[in-house]
Amino acid sequence: MNKSSLRRLCNLHEHLIKQHRVIRYKSKTSNDINSFVLYDKYICERRSQSKCSVLVQVSSENSCSDLYSYCSKFGAIKNIFHYQLAGSNHFVLTEFEDQSSVNSLLDQSTHIKDSNVIAVRSPFLWFRSNTSKKISKLSIAGKFNFPFKANQTMIEPNIKDIGLEKLDSLSNQMLLLLECTQLNDIGTRLRFLTAMQIENALKGIFPLSKVLPFGSSVNSFGKIGSDIDLVLMDSQTTENETSRLIFHGKCVSNSRTQIQRNIEILGDLLQLFLPGCSRVKRISQARVPIVKYSQDFVGVECDLAVSNETAVNMSELLYIFGNYDYRVRPLVFTVKMWAKEINLTNDTPGRWITNFSLTLLVLFYLQQEKIIPDIQTLVKQARNNDVRITNEGINCTFLRDVSKLNRVVENNKTLDQLLLGFFEYFASFDFNTNAISLNFGKKINKPEYSALYIVNPLEVHFNVSKNISSEEVERFRIELRNAAWTIDSSLMNTNSFNLLDLFKGFDVSKKSQIIFDIQHQIKNPNRLVTVKDLFDDDSQTHEDTRLNKQLK
Ligand code: GTP
Ligand code: MG
Repeated sequence: MNKSSLRRLCNLHEHLIKQHRVIRYKSKTSNDINSFVLYDKYICERRSQSKCSVLVQVSSENSCSDLYSYCSKFGAIKNIFHYQLAGSNHFVLTEFEDQSSVNSLLDQSTHIKDSNVIAVRSPFLWFRSNTSKKISKLSIAGKFNFPFKANQTMIEPNIKDIGLEKLDSLSNQMLLLLECTQLNDIGTRLRFLTAMQIENALKGIFPLSKVLPFGSSVNSFGKIGSDIDLVLMDSQTTENETSRLIFHGKCVSNSRTQIQRNIEILGDLLQLFLPGCSRVKRISQARVPIVKYSQDFVGVECDLAVSNETAVNMSELLYIFGNYDYRVRPLVFTVKMWAKEINLTNDTPGRWITNFSLTLLVLFYLQQEKIIPDIQTLVKQARNNDVRITNEGINCTFLRDVSKLNRVVENNKTLDQLLLGFFEYFASFDFNTNAISLNFGKKINKPEYSALYIVNPLEVHFNVSKNISSEEVERFRIELRNAAWTIDSSLMNTNSFNLLDLFKGFDVSKKSQIIFDIQHQIKNPNRLVTVKDLFDDDSQTHEDTRLNKQLK
């Protein structure tokens, strides 16, 4: 091959990479189970990273190199990231090679001389500009009124701007959606640093306690803008039997009242002393008492709980499934985005379906497709080092290293087939009599009445979707049917589909179509109505008025 054709080939290759970065992503992740990182290892690495990091506010991007050379005096820098909050708030996240560098940097940092600012040691600092020609110096951020505005780089992009319409295939659109909205590296680092801020603040009095992120920050289903769920974990003591000196301690109970009091105290700590923590709300009456607050330097909402070990194990279980097959995460992301865009989900808790329940529904569907295993299989294959019983006595034992699991059935369905399959499966699911059990990977009879019953995978006597009203389940079913219809009809007519059409949701002009669809389903309960059926039948006006009333 001569030089010019080689160059042409290279140019073509570059062009294809630019045009189809999603496809590149797909091939990178298609055998992801082989590069599966154990959850404990992943968490441990991220925590070490955060222990070696500081977050410094700078006046502008121009200060970055000045800061870099200033910080380099304390040790080798491994990574440095710049991001901007809306307005003029610039931040630099600096990761050192060694934790000792952070310690000496903090030792050398100073507190602002202002009687209104409480001197606190934390990994959040600001960089004094060098205008007076004095040597720049880091100052430890104090608790004062920080002018917070939304963070540009940490805000997920508008899905209308990411170029979904440029990709023909629905599968690739789903992969692009994942790539553009999933939690990125800096977002993950900042989440762990947010946890570390609280852990460090409590270290003097509780040297063995840890603050861990859980939920979508770590379960592989997190978006750029997802909240940070944190849990303060009790000390895991391993007694040193050779030591004859033992710390005195107070007995505490894990009773609800004690947890509620702890939440109040944590709320005060965050509100009064910790920099960046604002809008603190103590929600101690909830089933799981939490403190809600905003971390303004990171631009994210946080929920802090105490002693919720089961939730950490739940995050690990979801992490395992999210990494099990490359189709799991794009499918979950698409379904969650669909639900958000058509207002099935809502940021405030209420009678509607939650992202957590939606994620479990997608996983259950993928179990039906034999793409991921049921939980029983993971429990049966558990090894000695997988045994986990929480302080509350909940058994969270299941196989952690799923790369050891043999895959029996190979399902090669594409993402678009699975998306349509998900909508069709649940559009015809009998929510009235069936409960969803991911443990068995099967539907089971409902143990008690709830409009939607999803067995809690780790506490099987609880329903994770108990909050959902029957009206919301009905709305969910209608939207499922509508989504299946939208995709099916578009693929049938044009052989292509724009994901944005799905996110437009319930189209009033299609209402009579859906009413008819439901009628048809009532007449033919054993099968889902397809677009073809709709065109084959012209008895569309029957009982329209009655069903219209029901839908309203
Ligand atoms: P987003 O924050 O919406 O991105 O998803 P998330 O999975 O983080 O959900 P959320 O912040 O609402 O909850 C955090 C975690 O708490 C979830 O991942 C679950 O592990 C757990 N959780 C949430 N809701 C429930 C529930 O109803 N029952 C139980 N047992 N656990 C829940
Ligand atoms: Mg969350």
